[in-house]
Amino acid sequence: MLTTPEPEPGRSLPLLPNHPVGRSAVTCRYRCANACAHEAPNTSDNAYFGDVVRSIVDRRGALKAGTVLAVAGAGMAAFGGSAAASAPRRAAGRPSGGLDFDPVAPNTKDAVVIPDGYQQSVVIRWGDLVLPGAPRFAFTNQSAAAQAKQFGYNNDFCGLLPLGRDRWLMGSSHEYTSEEFMFLGYDAENPTEEQVKIAWAAHGFSVVVVQRERRSGKLVPVTDRHYNRRITVGTPFAVDGPAAGSDLLKTSADPTGVAVFGTLNNCAGGVTPWGTILSGEENFHGYFSGADAITDPKTKERLARYGAPGGASERQWERFDKRFDLGTEPNEFNRFGWIVEIDPYDPKSAPVKHTALGRFKHEGATIRLAGDGRVVAYQGDDERFDYIYKFVSKNTMARGTGRPAREQNKKLLSEGTLYVAKFTGDSPASEIDGSGKLPSDGLFDGTGEWLPLASNEESFVDGFSVEEVFVFTRLAADKAGATKMDRPEDVEPNPVTGRVYAALTNNSDRGAAGEEGATEPNPRNGNKHGHVLEWEENGNDPTATRFAWRLLLVCGDPNAVDTYFGGYDKSQVSPISCPDNVAFDEAGNLWISTDGNALESNDGLFSVPVSGEHRGHVKQFLTVPIGAETCGPVLEKDFVLVSVQHPGELDGASADNPGSHWPDGGDSQPRPSVVAVWKG
Ligand code: FEO
Ligand code: CA
Ligand code: CA
Repeated sequence: MLTTPEPEPGRSLPLLPNHPVGRSAVTCRYRCANACAHEAPNTSDNAYFGDVVRSIVDRRGALKAGTVLAVAGAGMAAFGGSAAASAPRRAAGRPSGGLDFDPVAPNTKDAVVIPDGYQQSVVIRWGDLVLPGAPRFAFTNQSAAAQAKQFGYNNDFCGLLPLGRDRWLMGSSHEYTSEEFMFLGYDAENPTEEQVKIAWAAHGFSVVVVQRERRSGKLVPVTDRHYNRRITVGTPFAVDGPAAGSDLLKTSADPTGVAVFGTLNNCAGGVTPWGTILSGEENFHGYFSGADAITDPKTKERLARYGAPGGASERQWERFDKRFDLGTEPNEFNRFGWIVEIDPYDPKSAPVKHTALGRFKHEGATIRLAGDGRVVAYQGDDERFDYIYKFVSKNTMARGTGRPAREQNKKLLSEGTLYVAKFTGDSPASEIDGSGKLPSDGLFDGTGEWLPLASNEESFVDGFSVEEVFVFTRLAADKAGATKMDRPEDVEPNPVTGRVYAALTNNSDRGAAGEEGATEPNPRNGNKHGHVLEWEENGNDPTATRFAWRLLLVCGDPNAVDTYFGGYDKSQVSPISCPDNVAFDEAGNLWISTDGNALESNDGLFSVPVSGEHRGHVKQFLTVPIGAETCGPVLEKDFVLVSVQHPGELDGASADNPGSHWPDGGDSQPRPSVVAVWKG
């Protein structure tokens, strides 16, 4: 039975001088355990080599070659395509229309605001039925048993897999819970057992069949008895890859080190060409407590590099399950921070934690198929001064969609080589002054190298065993000399051109005392608005170990001198701040969703052509309600899906004082939801 203590009038929220400008402090608190209020956990002294290596002879040539590849029509495409990555293909040559919309103006409305001529509908909300027999959502009478059958909280990633005409399997991750917004009178010092168990059931993942109604254009959920699925903190996961069975992963409940209950803080992800979903375990550290009890220096160093809290955790789950207490179960921490793979076509299959993709605060992972059939997974580690990674599989993708091929392909991410990115700028260090002013060559650009960390058989980092590289990947990457980036979020290859795009969302500590200053790939000190990085692998081969890069966008107010929009006329673009998720339509136009807009507008979804005369022409397609962030964009042929995460999550707001009434209106509580938008 849910208990609802009396509200505490005027209960003050912690003030966080260091939290990003546009994001509510309360979001920082629940989402990432105030990661930005603490010192960035990367205290390594990797040098930035931008001013050392300057001349790579073929860099300009590589750029020109890439340009001809990219013929996708700027301003031409309908939506078409999804976040699913696949082999590069030619532009579909669709007629104009999709980007032919009047941009939405920045605003702070409590609504999803879309361009004229478009329609929208809510596909599914927190608490809506997923499994047959789920009770109707009752905000003031929620239970863990009900929540385990209902759509979870704070949906982030969204992915669609085809299931027939106008029918899809929709996968949604449930990144985190915001208890003050879920429970009236929530007492953060004394959460009840039922509240904690509701939170366990509200995390994880949902698979829901969705159907598009031909007449209305709406996308509606279907209570499918076979496919619909909830994954929670209690769901059994298998562990595979080079760290499976390692002593570092063994606990008293699992002496084998290959079986873990649950997944935590699932942020972005990707749809694989073989029909599964990848999901990143991101700020998992915030669920653990008691690092102060650890005395072994090596273990302390490892915990610190991942930001493990010293005392109690925010949600105090350790009171009800000792595995979240590091003093009791130190290795449970090592069993999170992975990429997990979910097969939505096989609802009885155990999801898998792939240790071969490394362990860090995974934003997500997206796949590109190489010409020789191997697959490459691109990944970002979302923390100030952390890194961009890629994994190259050892084996090649089997053709076909039959069970043998699918089972074989579900092993592709079990064996391969993990790399981390090192970026080198081509402009003199003196021209990268931290202001965002373009260097004299007119571009923030240069070359890069993928530094190998380990394969299943061999470590390439001195002093690290294979299993240590994969379990303590951040430390191995420090040693290898990776480039410190401004919070790498989504990293995704363009399915038309093969170029890869990374959202670097912000880094208020860039250039702060004791921290690394501006570098050519991260050219602004106190970076409030973030930037978007573009690169192409040498020979357009995703398995290559070298690449050429440049910044596509340096985000912020177009009227400000420190912003750059791919060289496009800045008087014509929409302001954009804090890029988070990236996706592509079938013509190869980039779509960007934002988290933490620091320009006094709600977050939104933006489109931008990446080639042709409109390269850099950023246009805002929609905004989400107040307090929300936009994530999970899916660009289908005839509609767009966005996740509206944490609506109303404003400082000072709570369930007792709602900051939003979206989507149900009136005096209702806000509910995180998936929204569809289509032209009509
Ligand atoms: Fe969960 Fe990096 O955003
Ligand atoms: Ca340059
Ligand atoms: Ca994100």
